[in-house]
Amino acid sequence: MLEGAMNCSILKRAQDKELVEIQIHNLRDYSLDKHHRVDDYPFGGEAGMVMQIEPIDNIISLLKSQRSYDEVIFTSPDGERFDQKMANRMSSFENIIILCGHYKGIDYRIREHLITKEISIGDYVLTGGELAAAIITDAIVRLIPGAIGDEQSALSDSFQDNLLAPPVYTRPAEYKGWKVPDILLSGHEAKIDEWKLKQAIARTKLLRPDLLEDK
Ligand code: ADE
Repeated sequence: MLEGAMNCSILKRAQDKELVEIQIHNLRDYSLDKHHRVDDYPFGGEAGMVMQIEPIDNIISLLKSQRSYDEVIFTSPDGERFDQKMANRMSSFENIIILCGHYKGIDYRIREHLITKEISIGDYVLTGGELAAAIITDAIVRLIPGAIGDEQSALSDSFQDNLLAPPVYTRPAEYKGWKVPDILLSGHEAKIDEWKLKQAIARTKLLRPDLLEDK
């Protein structure tokens, strides 16, 4: 799943351009067990298996011996809610580790001793943390200068100013009688910018008023 997510589109291009290096590690490769087991039965007799501390400590220790890390992240619905601010901050980091969690099934000592930050991508429970890790990675990498064609377009994203993005249009200027707003065809740059800002504010008030209260 992660190989697929990390190796297409903008994430692939950013790696090809050496703007970012993404390594995916399979915990099984760090298990000392001859069957490459990474989980075991829980103490206290709950249902389900629990990911063991040792393979995770092995890989994190190995990575830390090679370079230093700004954050060791665990994906979990318990964590701080991921948002654009967090993505912005993390896009300036040198190195991060993201441990894809299995929410209930992970030895709690890992979270207590090895993890520096827990991140949730929303109030719902996924089967595993892989998709969450892919989402976090995507949101961070596209902010690295050069990762997307026009740097301006990351700056004008929805949420960058706590505002949703204004509508965009392309040719044809009229389709089935549905018209592009005249102002965008006027060539009057200052007025167009003013229109975009007004649209952004109006859309935010209508669709996400909570973003305006945030400030
Ligand atoms: N793992 C399971 N559910 C998750 C969520 N909502 N966010 C991050 N990681 C998760």
